Amino acid sequence: MYYKFLPSFVQRKGRITKSQEYNLLQLSKFEINSYDQIVSAKEDFKKVILEIGFGNGEHISRLAQENRQHLYIGSEVYMSGIGQLLGEIAKYNLNNIKIVKGDIRLLLDDLKSPLFDDVVIICPDPWPKLKHHKRRMINLDFFELIHKSINPNGHLFISTDWKNYAESIEETIDSFEGFKRTNGSIYEDTFLTKFQQRAKKEGRKIYPFALEKVS
Ligand SMILES: C[S@@+](CC[C@H](N)C(=O)[O-])C[C@H]1O[C@@H](n2cnc3c(N)ncnc32)[C@H](O)[C@@H]1O
Repeated sequence: MYYKFLPSFVQRKGRITKSQEYNLLQLSKFEINSYDQIVSAKEDFKKVILEIGFGNGEHISRLAQENRQHLYIGSEVYMSGIGQLLGEIAKYNLNNIKIVKGDIRLLLDDLKSPLFDDVVIICPDPWPKLKHHKRRMINLDFFELIHKSINPNGHLFISTDWKNYAESIEETIDSFEGFKRTNGSIYEDTFLTKFQQRAKKEGRKIYPFALEKVS
């Protein structure tokens, strides 16, 4: 089958626990997968924030608990993570989270106009081997897609714990004109995700990139 983007995630099935499987029965109530669905979902909210690759969903869940006036759209490929986030949604009675299942780039590619106030990406898959660098999600093509999806003066926050990936993100930022760097971000000092905690434990530094759309 023709696939427009080289997978930026590891293609494995992953183990799904009984409780995740149970939570996944509710997925259809929260799943969203088109421009029109996002437009209608965001009507009642002040801002719309997209988190790409939410992993276990602990970060997006916490943001949604603390900011009930904002709509959070979480994107993830792994069903186990989606099941986990659905558990959080039920536990905290969250009505401000929607889930995009699968490769977010397919949806971004389909957007008719900008939709998001902020986009957050924490610890994108690092693909550390040189021969796999082409699978890294953050590159110029991706910046084009993201830029088109963010509202004027909206924000993009990325953080990685891989030095080499951070260097390539720097290069992408420097060669792309549509964003300017800002002094910090509200997403920088939020609590650590699972991958950030692991990085700290293993002594790796976290490199944050806070950007604002300028043109
Ligand atoms: C290294 S994990 C980080 C998870 C979480 N943000 C954290 O910090 O704990 C990267 C996540 O991004 C997801 N991912 C990678 N490419 C993606 C894509 N194109 N669309 C949506 N999610 C993607 C992967 O499935 C994976 O769960």
